[in-house]
Amino acid sequence: MKYQTKYEELIRKCAVSADLSGALALMGWDQETNMPKGASERRASQMATLAATIHEYNLKEIYPLVKDLASVWDELESVARLNVLELKRELDKAQKLPTEFVSLMTKTSSETQFAWEKAYKANNYAEFAPYLEKMFVLKKQEADYYGYTTSPYDALLDSYEQGLTSSMVTTVFEQMKPELKQIIEKVQQSEPISTDFLHQKIDKEKQWQFTMKVLEDMGFDFSRGRQDISTHPFTTSFSMEDVRVTTRVDEFDLSNALYSSIHEGGHALYEQGLLTTNYGLPSGQACSLAVHESQSRIWENNIGRSLPFIEYYFIDLQQLFPDNLKGKDPLQVFEAFNVVKPSFIRTSADEVTYHFHILTRFEVEREIMENRLKVKDLSEFWNAKMKEYLNLDVKEDNQGALQDVHWSMGAIGYFPTYSLGSFYAAQFFAKANQSIPDLNNQIKAGQFLHFKKWLNESIHVHGKLYPSEVLCQLVTGEQLNVNYFLSYIKEKLSVVYGWT
Ligand code: CO
Repeated sequence: MKYQTKYEELIRKCAVSADLSGALALMGWDQETNMPKGASERRASQMATLAATIHEYNLKEIYPLVKDLASVWDELESVARLNVLELKRELDKAQKLPTEFVSLMTKTSSETQFAWEKAYKANNYAEFAPYLEKMFVLKKQEADYYGYTTSPYDALLDSYEQGLTSSMVTTVFEQMKPELKQIIEKVQQSEPISTDFLHQKIDKEKQWQFTMKVLEDMGFDFSRGRQDISTHPFTTSFSMEDVRVTTRVDEFDLSNALYSSIHEGGHALYEQGLLTTNYGLPSGQACSLAVHESQSRIWENNIGRSLPFIEYYFIDLQQLFPDNLKGKDPLQVFEAFNVVKPSFIRTSADEVTYHFHILTRFEVEREIMENRLKVKDLSEFWNAKMKEYLNLDVKEDNQGALQDVHWSMGAIGYFPTYSLGSFYAAQFFAKANQSIPDLNNQIKAGQFLHFKKWLNESIHVHGKLYPSEVLCQLVTGEQLNVNYFLSYIKEKLSVVYGWT
């Protein structure tokens, strides 16, 4: 009984911490959508202060309670036990970083992002390299603080995906590489598919309206969230009752707004699907970045780029964009949305070549963290990989090593979760099809509620009570198995390219 009181105190304090995090997230959302330019420096310091306050609150107020409760964990009921053990794992890790180091990292991250923006505009990697060098020095120091057995890179990977190691990612990619290469070769020997009609002028307002309709159909709850415009689409959540997505609208590319909204909508449904009664606790938080990405990818690709989905929306599309779709049928739109073609920019890459973009970034990070590559030689290494994997000659730094913001923010070890997300998505989708045998017909009729409910009940409801591999086992009955992705993509491309 006395533990019960202590656990209730823990719940209260976790809610306080979540309140603070919600305020921080709101500041971040505002920064990307509405904030006047002149506020950027002060906002950065306000956010850094709040982040440090949360870090301190968690260590001073929550950590001691967690340690007490963890020592009697076998006397707690099962969900309380899992919450306590997960909090302990996180705080054990967090307390390894000295406060001065956290501040230094926050400050360096702001400076490095600023340097990245400048170098990106100047299209010059060499300008950025000294700043990135400093960032990698700090990340190696961070890995030392955390500790590791085999590779310092493992300590960073674990921050985004519990238990993920450099050798695990290498194994997955070694398995995928020849398969994906073969698919790309097969595509290159096939008849090319025209996508011109998707790149004529398309009314921006109508595109926006269409994305709002699709979000609503997916089951996005607009009474507990909203959509806005930003340069880089993202999802953020202040609580389960307020989940924000952003999209970007490109006048000459319908797929940009549509698939950004669906992707972020998938992330948002996960956040809205967490149980409000678990606010602030691991059981009320998303499992991991890879599982989060699986929720966006499953809607974007497995659902949104499927033929039944396009069949359902074809009438809307034709009414909204009659000039663009004149004389087209759903199959042609489906084919155009699924073209596989090597390109320089990760965020607009297709479902197959995408993973070579991730593999390149993973190899860069691994080689630098394991001291086999110097930051100053990063761009050259990158370009050689793009040539090897996608036969592309990178000529501009901002089409190559400078294209992503992640490294400047210190997000090293993050990229692999993007590929893992697609692989989990395919595996979850196969299971969803088993559980809802009629799913294809439901999609074709624009009925997404069963599918959303399945995601709610199979994945969202568990929050962060289990690591991703345990959750995957629970949902699908087996560990992550990349063959689901391979058979999904081969089956789809057979239709797209008419392979027999
Ligand atoms: Co995403």
